[in-house]
Amino acid sequence: MNNNRLCQMLGIRYPIIAGGMNWVSNAELAAGVSNAGGLGVVVPSAGLPPSGGDPVENLRQHIRKAKQLTDKPIGVNIPLDRKAAKSYAEVAVAEGVSVAIGSAGNPALYTGMLKNAGIKVLHVVASVKHARHAEAVGVDAVVAEGYEAGGHNGLDELTTFVLVPQVADAVKIPVVAAGGIADVRGFLAALLLGADGVQMGTRFLATTECIAHQKLKEAVVNAPDTGTVIVMRKLGVTRSIKTGMTQKYLEAEAKGASIEELKALRYGRARMGLLEGDMEEGDASCGAIAGLIKDIVSAEGVINRIMGDIPQALNKLNGKLNIGGKY
Ligand SMILES: Cc1cc2nc3c(=O)[nH]c(=O)nc-3n(C[C@H](O)[C@H](O)[C@H](O)COP(=O)(O)O)c2cc1C
Repeated sequence: MNNNRLCQMLGIRYPIIAGGMNWVSNAELAAGVSNAGGLGVVVPSAGLPPSGGDPVENLRQHIRKAKQLTDKPIGVNIPLDRKAAKSYAEVAVAEGVSVAIGSAGNPALYTGMLKNAGIKVLHVVASVKHARHAEAVGVDAVVAEGYEAGGHNGLDELTTFVLVPQVADAVKIPVVAAGGIADVRGFLAALLLGADGVQMGTRFLATTECIAHQKLKEAVVNAPDTGTVIVMRKLGVTRSIKTGMTQKYLEAEAKGASIEELKALRYGRARMGLLEGDMEEGDASCGAIAGLIKDIVSAEGVINRIMGDIPQALNKLNGKLNIGGKY
């Protein structure tokens, strides 16, 4: 019997979620994670062609494909700031997904509609205030994401280490820690900080099932501790792997470029970085924990390694706590 309340709520074996990743959270990755006992998530933009395509229909296809590949729960990420957000929520309902994870917008928008359809609703937050709001509007669990995380981050740039315990103290619903977690140490530390589970993105970028370009996967594996950088402080904080484009962007920002110039430099580059592997002109969201990731493995490999490493990690911890006093 699994006593973890996040696992019980989501119907999963291990409290590990593969966070939605714009462009690259595809059906195969989601199914791989769910089959391994975590929660896999698909996104509307997964693998869309350069011409654009229809993200609503694309989301539907990725959900259907994922469901063919697993009989375990599957989640969707709903970027709430997009015009099509309502359509994404409607597809989630129509296709019968188990979990919806909202981000970048107001959780009040579709939580009622999704919950009425029996879907568990999670919402990504970057502050205690937003966590309390999410709980107040009926969200089932919050994902507390520190700004180590790849992708869009909170404006206040709180780290996972300071955010998670404060959110855990502030709400009664389960808390999922995100940002800077890639191995058993991060997993156990998150639980100790008060989280019920973790959400990882960057670790799942470097998996065999993920449709991120091979060059990006290799860039993640080769990234040093200083391999990522915050760009777009003026357009919305985003953490990316360092590329020629991020360098140009930061130089332009330092020289006082206008918002329009900065937008021209950055917008439309994410697909190039993530799906085309253009490490010069492209931009790819990536977490600071890339420095710790040393191999490309299967989604199952990621999860089995973390769960398998728990006994040894706890032994080590016990050794360190043997400090002579009472505890
Ligand atoms: C390439 C990439 C794209 C992402 N896109 C999204 C997104 O579209 N929506 C979202 O809610 N989070 C997005 N995230 C954040 C992840 O869901 C996850 O919370 C985050 O990666 C966790 O931190 P980590 O990168 O340190 O593991 C993205 C992250 C990455 C690395």
